[in-house]
Amino acid sequence: MSINANNENTADIKNQDKYADRVRAITSQMSLNKGGKPKVCVVTFGCQQNEADSEKIMGSAKELGYEKTALQDDADLIIFNTCAVREHAELKALSKTGQLKHLKDKNPDLLVGLWGCMVNQESRIEDIKHKYPYVDFVAGTNMLHRLPEILCDVMVNKRRRYYVDSQDVSVVEGVPTQRSSSIKALVSIMYGCDNFCTYCIVPYVRGRERSRKPDDIISEVKELVAGGCKDITLLGQNVNSYGKGLNGEDKCTFPEMLERIANLDGDFVLRFMTSHPKDASDELVRVIRDNPKIERHFHLPLQSGDDRVLKAMNRKYTAQKYLEIAEKLKSIPDMLLTTDIIVGFPSETDEEFENTLKLVEKVNFDAVFSFIYSPRPGTPAAKLEDPTPYEQKTKRMSELLGLQRENVLKINQSFVGKTVRVLCETKQNEKGLFTGRTSSFKLVKFESEDKNIYGKFVNVKITGFSESCISGNAVFE
Ligand code: SAH
Ligand code: SF4
Ligand code: F3S
Repeated sequence: MSINANNENTADIKNQDKYADRVRAITSQMSLNKGGKPKVCVVTFGCQQNEADSEKIMGSAKELGYEKTALQDDADLIIFNTCAVREHAELKALSKTGQLKHLKDKNPDLLVGLWGCMVNQESRIEDIKHKYPYVDFVAGTNMLHRLPEILCDVMVNKRRRYYVDSQDVSVVEGVPTQRSSSIKALVSIMYGCDNFCTYCIVPYVRGRERSRKPDDIISEVKELVAGGCKDITLLGQNVNSYGKGLNGEDKCTFPEMLERIANLDGDFVLRFMTSHPKDASDELVRVIRDNPKIERHFHLPLQSGDDRVLKAMNRKYTAQKYLEIAEKLKSIPDMLLTTDIIVGFPSETDEEFENTLKLVEKVNFDAVFSFIYSPRPGTPAAKLEDPTPYEQKTKRMSELLGLQRENVLKINQSFVGKTVRVLCETKQNEKGLFTGRTSSFKLVKFESEDKNIYGKFVNVKITGFSESCISGNAVFE
């Protein structure tokens, strides 16, 4: 498939073939000199969206004559695909970038690139220009189809380059993808976010919301299933608003998209993330209930269980509304819910935090991903006063984790005696165990007499549990 865009803004796309030829000429010379293909190492920070993007960076690099390596020491090209969601994520990427200096000293021909969300911020680019002189290029989140041009520029012109996104970008199809698994796949169905939750940097670094055409998504999924893929996760910052901006014969809502995919032939399961509660509709609940291929797991970020805080976050729902949606979802048999919570949003009081704990108790989540609020420069919340001491926030966090530990132990215990269907996702480990996930996304570790089960669905009788997983034995009729 060749690269194409769904609007008329295709000038930068047409030229990529020309750049790719020039890069390939250079990499084949490198192959001759080295006696083997040059190597590329892509390191991913952040969320699944970044993982999916890294598979595209890897796919493009492969087409340009590189071979994958997991070892930075071995690489001729190192790309860090970065995250900016919290300060910690940025500091981690920057500290790992600092460690690349010694590799560059050892091998001056090594090319180093920073990709993605962190470097889609002007202030970070300035930092990199001045403090990290051994970084050869930076490229924002929407540059995936332009790797040939970027490498050509750096290799031929021998200049440092900074490719920052314009906010007005189309959906680009056909970028080569090198998937990291043959049985599980991430499929982006939309990009960007228009929600502007007041704490969040994502809408600034990922740009406006835009959806892929349904036919492009369906073709990708069909190809994956035909190739033996068994577990497909549809990705977007807010999948529930999929379809906004699609017109005519491309018009499609998220529940319609799910149903179209669930109706495709083949033995596979379908997951999706992330959903914003404000757009979770009754139709979505119906589609999940009616389609067994859609897994019984729903990640529904709560962020806070207090109405004042939710309003200050610009989340557009109340605690009560959230609870109603959660109850509808939980009425689907075997459904488990997971969530994200921000602890210590500016000026959150102890009482307001108690409201979050109450809601967590009521919903009975299978997992809570909790984060201490991290001010993101340029977001509205970063300007708010935040008198709560950090120690107070860590205390709240421990309380939440303690409550969640109790909840999850009860949930895990409730699996004992049941038989669950899982996709075997790993080969046997050194302890003789295989791993997989239930439909509700619960991690299962199990023994099996048949050792040839990687990538197959198996039934597992659950006999034990811990805080982190459930365990048992594969049963064969
Ligand atoms: N689009 C997804 C989430 C993307 S970010 C959604 O709306 O759910 C993943 C999680 O990071 C968020 O759900 C939130 O809990 C957390 N997060 C985002 N910005 C944050 C910040 N400034 N400080 C702490 N946590 C943050
Ligand atoms: Fe961030 Fe809110 Fe968009 Fe999620 S929905 S990416 S939390 S702005
Ligand atoms: Fe994901 Fe981090 Fe970007 S969470 S969208 S990689 S800011």
